[in-house]
Amino acid sequence: MVCVESMPFEVKRSGITVNMSDEAHIFHPACKLSEIEDDRGVPVEVGDRVIAIFRTEGDYYAIDDTCPHKGVPLCDGLVDQKSVTCTWHGWRFSLETGCGLDGNRSKVGRYPVRISGENVEVGIPRSNSTHGEQVRAGCNSE
Ligand code: FES
Repeated sequence: MVCVESMPFEVKRSGITVNMSDEAHIFHPACKLSEIEDDRGVPVEVGDRVIAIFRTEGDYYAIDDTCPHKGVPLCDGLVDQKSVTCTWHGWRFSLETGCGLDGNRSKVGRYPVRISGENVEVGIPRSNSTHGEQVRAGCNSE
């Protein structure tokens, strides 16, 4: 399966202010850079959302923290090759797109991340259209 999604934003290398030409998101402070370890998720609350932030291979990612299968926190998942695997039943999600991998046809919301000084900020959509997104809009499979 290949998960392809047109990305309205990009996650850039650490230490560089990220993209966003994007007027679709409002950025909120989520945590400090010092709170993030490589390949370990950090759960944060941003508004009414619980989001897991990851740093892997020098890039930062933010996805919904709740596994769409049984609701287990994905921040506790195993990170490998820019994906996270849920600890309970092994569903795997791309950190880049939120798309399920390995035949998993669900999807978690993902958010743009930017670094501002020592702060990690997460972009929340101005509209709630992607809140709780569990459909595979934008995900292709073969
Ligand atoms: S709860 Fe995540 S795979 Fe089952």
